[in-house]
Amino acid sequence: MATREWTQLWLGYHKVCEGEGCWKIVLEGFSKDSAIISNALKEFTRGIGSLTGEEVVSSEDAGQKTLKITANKEIKKEGYHIQGNAEGITLEASDDNGALYGVFAILRQIACGQKAGEISENAAPSNPLRMMNHWDNMDGSIERGYSGKSFFFENEEIVIDERTRDYARFMASVAINGVVINNVNVKGAASYLITDRYFDKVKELSEIFGEYGIKLYLSLNFASPIEIGGMDTCDPLDKEVISWWEKKMAEVYARLPLLGGFLVKADSEGRPGPFTYGRTQADGANMLGDVIKPYGGIIIWRCFVYNCTQDWRDTKTDRARAGYDYFKDLDGAYHDNVILQIKNGPMDFQIREPVSPLLGGLTKTNQMLEVQIAQEYTGHQIDLCYLIPLFKEVLDFHTHCAPEKDTVADVVSGRTMGNTLGGMAAVINTGNDLNWTGDDLAAANTYGFGRLSFNTDLSAEEIAREWIALTFKLPKKEEDVLCSMLLRSREIYEKYSSPLGIGWMVTPNDHYGPSVDGYEYSRWGTYHRADHLGIGVDRTDKGTGYAQQYYEENAKMYNDPHTCPEELLLFFHHIPYTWMLKTGKTLIQHIYDSHFEGEEEARGLAADWDSLKEAIPAAEFDRVKKRFDLQLDNAREWRDQVNSYFFRKSGIADEKGRTIY
Ligand code: GCU
Repeated sequence: MATREWTQLWLGYHKVCEGEGCWKIVLEGFSKDSAIISNALKEFTRGIGSLTGEEVVSSEDAGQKTLKITANKEIKKEGYHIQGNAEGITLEASDDNGALYGVFAILRQIACGQKAGEISENAAPSNPLRMMNHWDNMDGSIERGYSGKSFFFENEEIVIDERTRDYARFMASVAINGVVINNVNVKGAASYLITDRYFDKVKELSEIFGEYGIKLYLSLNFASPIEIGGMDTCDPLDKEVISWWEKKMAEVYARLPLLGGFLVKADSEGRPGPFTYGRTQADGANMLGDVIKPYGGIIIWRCFVYNCTQDWRDTKTDRARAGYDYFKDLDGAYHDNVILQIKNGPMDFQIREPVSPLLGGLTKTNQMLEVQIAQEYTGHQIDLCYLIPLFKEVLDFHTHCAPEKDTVADVVSGRTMGNTLGGMAAVINTGNDLNWTGDDLAAANTYGFGRLSFNTDLSAEEIAREWIALTFKLPKKEEDVLCSMLLRSREIYEKYSSPLGIGWMVTPNDHYGPSVDGYEYSRWGTYHRADHLGIGVDRTDKGTGYAQQYYEENAKMYNDPHTCPEELLLFFHHIPYTWMLKTGKTLIQHIYDSHFEGEEEARGLAADWDSLKEAIPAAEFDRVKKRFDLQLDNAREWRDQVNSYFFRKSGIADEKGRTIY
């Protein structure tokens, strides 16, 4: 085999033990003719071979271990039961995807040190849809990409090679079942993905994905009737527009029968949408839902709609309110094959935000949670930031939308409303870098998102340990060190960046590194409102009223600075620097302390990484070490700029007399 120019991420299958004999595979109710099953068998052969040196043979000789894969319709969709025994392993699965996931689960357990004969797991996905959203552009660039260029597009062409297949394997191994390949900002050539120019290649890609149980989706340009149809309107209620779309969908599905549907960013950050024509978001989403319905497709409609041309002088308009304001009233109006995709927080993927009140605020509409593993605001895959703890907090949040089953995990999985369309999507962090994710350690987020969306009950630590075992296979002591690094990293990043939920304070456009006032006088609705007495945005009933968008229990909690969780204090309240926090520190002292601590703890992360030098392969070790060097510069810059800014604003000295500029 040719030398691979990319790593195998968590599918490296490091040898765990010396094999005893060989395997045969028996299928019952499944067929090798299914590409998914055939890939599952290939994966088992490859995985077990590398992990144990054991071969898979086709003969019926006695003395062999058997992997028996049986269809069992009693098991939930995409679910599996695996059980090791003296003869080998039985894998029962509901369908092809379940069988494939079961095989990956077997390999994962063996890679994590389990003996084949002792494997046992019953699993079924928490979420029907588990998706990755690529923000890849057709020129090969990636919006908010920190790991090289796109591996899907280059010079306005679609790239399909061995790497495509590996990508599909990685995704399937963590049970991702949907991938959007292009940026939500659909412009230029990307508008033509639904035309003859690209059908053949998109089809080929959809087939490769299909062989791993993954549906391909495209981001759609709402203004396609204008941009590629030559019409002068894309009004969703215009008869000619509707008939244009009907013809377009007929053509699209004739050419792309495996297409899952479309993701749409409309009326957002300059993208066209129904508002232009005085129509509602539901008018736009439902029109597309209707035209795609005959083909079984779905429309995933994003709720990232807000006024991005705000005047900073205006303290009444609140970007945080926008999603709820635009979408709540139309709850129940969205058609069955439409899903609203909602970012985890009301702003934009900050290191700390409250959970969007729209999640669970809608009670009659399919909903999907959108998170971002591309580290746009969380360190560009330079700074270590394991995001699974953040996602867990979001999933576990009690919305109070129902007497029970009211967490975000309940809502998006369909448990609350009994609907079947919903789930989780992540803006993915991959590119064509050799290690896929820029920082090798950022792959923990790629892996982690998949695992978490399949099983929202897994803990951040369990996922971290699995990923470490699969990627590096470290001795226990070293595994503990790396696991602790991952688990500490989000809080460390939070400590040295913007304080107590206020967010932003990042370098405009690029979003790496500090610029405390960078967005303060801008049009983006992202303000901290600091003056010489205090900081924070009053989002209470006396301020913008954002807190009142939550159900009563949460609204009350957030509305009062004494009951508001302190990590979100400045998101909801304008607080004087002399305000006493529960720790007995003033707000200003907290800002100083957390920034000094954050920088110091970042140095602790780098030192921990150094301590792993002997245990990690040299190339990976060096790559990551270089990232830590950069992270330390960044942490120092954040610390000093934030502390100096608030010292200069408030005139209050650090009690501990440390250097502030
Ligand atoms: C952020 C990000 C944009 C992106 C947008 C979105 O604002 O900075 O690059 O297009 O989110 O989610 O659509």
